[in-house]
Amino acid sequence: MIWKEMEDYVRIFDTTLRDGEQCPGAAMSEDEKVEIALHLARMKVDIIEAGFPVSSPVQFKAVERIAREIEGPIICGLARALRPDLEAARDALKPAKLKRIHTFIASSPIHMKHKLGKSPAEVLEMARTAVKMARDFVTDVEFSPEDATRSEWAFLRELVEAVIEEGATTINIPDTVGYTTPQEYMDLFRFLKKEVKGADKVIFSAHCHNDLGLAVANSLATVLAGGRQIECTINGIGERAGNTAMEEVVMALKTRKDAFGVETRIDSTLITRGSHLVKTITGMVVQPNKAIVGANAFAHESGIHQDGVIKNRQTYEIMTPESVGLKSNRMVLGRHSGRAGFKDRIIRMGFDPKPEEIDNAYNRFLEIADKKKEVFDEDIAALFQGEISRSQVDEIYRLVSFEQNTGTNKTPDSKITLSVKGETKQGEAHGDGPVDSIFKAINQVTGLSPLLSRLVISPVTEGTDAMAEASVTLEDGERRVVGKGDSTDIIEACAKAYINALNRL
Ligand code: KIV
Ligand code: ZN
Repeated sequence: MIWKEMEDYVRIFDTTLRDGEQCPGAAMSEDEKVEIALHLARMKVDIIEAGFPVSSPVQFKAVERIAREIEGPIICGLARALRPDLEAARDALKPAKLKRIHTFIASSPIHMKHKLGKSPAEVLEMARTAVKMARDFVTDVEFSPEDATRSEWAFLRELVEAVIEEGATTINIPDTVGYTTPQEYMDLFRFLKKEVKGADKVIFSAHCHNDLGLAVANSLATVLAGGRQIECTINGIGERAGNTAMEEVVMALKTRKDAFGVETRIDSTLITRGSHLVKTITGMVVQPNKAIVGANAFAHESGIHQDGVIKNRQTYEIMTPESVGLKSNRMVLGRHSGRAGFKDRIIRMGFDPKPEEIDNAYNRFLEIADKKKEVFDEDIAALFQGEISRSQVDEIYRLVSFEQNTGTNKTPDSKITLSVKGETKQGEAHGDGPVDSIFKAINQVTGLSPLLSRLVISPVTEGTDAMAEASVTLEDGERRVVGKGDSTDIIEACAKAYINALNRL
């Protein structure tokens, strides 16, 4: 046994790329998934659930690429308790050094009857067969009785015992519909750990949905009952109201080790960057008062609070902003900062830049430093991520310049110059607002007019000269792409994001 297995800690099973991606509007490209997986590996998550390989060729390829390129965490693929699913998971995971198959079948009366049309005995047999087959493919097998929290406990006991007999190594107890409560979920874990033969040989895992706002509380409750894996997503994205938020679980276990007795192995200083990455890639905004990663999570507004924090931070701060990677290094860079200092900062932020990415990002940094007195880490992270995003696609269209005429009682008018495969082209259009008019001008040049399903603009830091990041989601039939752009000018940020999305289409 290696030390990692012997040590008593809570394994973080990140499912941002699988359950997180299942929520409306969060579909990601293959490159984007790899980018997130790389960051998850940097954060030291224990297991990355990379996708559901049988569900589409796109999913299969993404899991396979993550299995090939990401080192450190165990790479996991989801499979129903069916041979084609299990074979697809096996094949997609082939290149991974450490791999896991996660197989599941519903166990609640309502799911078995209405969704599967199967009797409990048939479900039990399918679960046994699936776990046996998965064990023939890999040594690390996780089993989930879907909708476990609405299942009969006696049947769950029998089912879990059967799959342990067949070689399951992790037993996940999903609260699929976000129905359970902390006390009830804890009791269920205690019951299974006590009553199931072989329970001492496996890791018990929590998987919660947030329909009643209890996902984090429920997940944490299982730790008190001996659960040692929590399945979660960055920013809590996921089906309906989302999944357990990874950042909240990690910081609760860290901050209240006195209450839980165990922690995770996550590098919490990379949480803010991870949150930002998922936000910009999916275009799903984070509410300002969201715990740990919301814009206000560490802001002290009232005079009494500010006074207290100045005298002693612990008066109103139970954890430091630095512990989640917020403003950990607010050393300011400016237009006189050299390329070496810039590169050093990027590397210290946890990026692994290619030389051409540094060159392009440095030129962009100089442009921004000309417009903005102080360039903060958040600005640099945003512009570097933008650079990665641009380098992932062939730049057919590139913004050269634009002019806009707008104001009260005027219909905004935009003139745009684009480089189209190296050739300069111009367009002009009126629109219902500045953004509408510039997008129409771009459409005029490109001859494209895809469906715009989402536009999100967020400031990177504070102040009227702050950089803005825009995220544009476009749809064209089955295809859905997210483009990103940044600038100190929000119209330019939107135009760049729109062009980036068109290049992705
Ligand atoms: O919520 C759920 O039940 C799931 C399973 C596939 C584990 O996501
Ligand atoms: Zn789920």
